[in-house]
This record gives sequence, C-alpha cells and structure tokens, in this order.
Amino acid sequence: MMEAIRKRCSVRSYLDKPIEEEKLNLVLEAARLAPSAGNRQESRFVVVRDKEKRQRLAEAASGQSFVGQAPVVIACCAVDADHKMPCGQFSYPIDVAIAMDHLTLKATEEGLGTCWIGAFYEAQVKEILGVPEEVRVVELLTLGYPQSEIGGEKIRKRLDEIVKYEKW
Ligand SMILES: Cc1cc2nc3c(=O)[nH]c(=O)nc-3n(C[C@H](O)[C@H](O)[C@H](O)COP(=O)(O)O)c2cc1C
Repeated sequence: MMEAIRKRCSVRSYLDKPIEEEKLNLVLEAARLAPSAGNRQESRFVVVRDKEKRQRLAEAASGQSFVGQAPVVIACCAVDADHKMPCGQFSYPIDVAIAMDHLTLKATEEGLGTCWIGAFYEAQVKEILGVPEEVRVVELLTLGYPQSEIGGEKIRKRLDEIVKYEKW
C-alpha cells in the first residue's frame, strides 16, 4: 500500500500504448469498491478512448495537451449533487474523490500513470460526452502508460505542520 502511495505522482506524458481491458477493469473495480456517504454510490465514470473525443476534452481542459495524448480519459461524475451530510458538507465531491484515489493507487500498482484534472469547463465536457444536465462532472482523470519511470521525491509539508494532537 505505502509503495503505491509513495510512487503515485501526476503523469503528464504518456506512451502511445493502449491499456489492456483487464487492467482497465481492475482500476475501475478499485473505484467501485470505494466507500461513499451512506453507501449512496452516486459516482459514475465515463471512460473515453476515442481519439477525437480525447482531443476535444483536452481543449475543454484549458488546452492541456497531455489530456488528448493519454490513451484513456475518465470523466468522474456524480448523479446527485444535492445531498448534504449532517456536517453540512455536500457528499458528492468527497465520494467521487475517494473513488478516484482508489483508482489512481490501483493504477500505480498496475504500472499505469494518472493525473487529476480540475482545470476544465464542465459545460464543454458535458456537451462532448452527452452528460445529462443534472449530473455533475467533478474531475477528469488521465490514464495510461507513463513515458518514463514514475516516483521520486514528493514536495509536501512536514507532518508536524499539518497534524495537531488533542486541540487545534
Ligand atoms: C483536485 C485536483 C485537481 C488537479 N488538477 C490538475 C490539472 O488540471 N492539471 C494538472 O496538470 N494537474 C492537476 N492536478 C495535479 C496536482 O497539480 C498534483 O497532484 C500536485 O501538484 C501534487 O503532485 P503529485 O500528484 O505529482 O504528487 C490536480 C490535482 C488534484 C488533486
């Protein structure tokens, strides 16, 4: 587990090599098994392999060209954007993010690279993929074999900068 967590990093350069169906199913299965608030399971995933669509998605993602280069782009969506938990937070972006994290870690274990894409115009993505009005596209995710070895040093705050014990 820690090996995949340490190794995962944002991959922005991909080989022109398709992902085996079996591997794709494995990473999607990791997303399926993710927890969700009240086990509502409202995350949905649109897997895009069509080259022309991927290129249009790259345009919708502020022209980030590697989005079109990756052999697979997954639009990570939520079918109910209204549900709030008693804590006051909307559950849908949290649920989708957990599923995506499962997916990215499983992808790393399978030798695949990923990159979360939050810089995109939702209306454009919805139009390209025919996503219904009421469904939210929370994030895009690129998936494919990385051009080079992944891993390396992570730029992160120290643990004592982000963790407090017993009180704020
Ligand atoms: C919610 C979210 C949105 C992101 N959006 C983008 C994006 O649009 N384009 C991009 O190149 N990277 C994007 N990233 C990647 C982050 O820049 C990256 O995760 C962060 O710099 C840490 O680097 P690492 O993923 O290599 O560990 C996003 C990451 C997250 C979690």
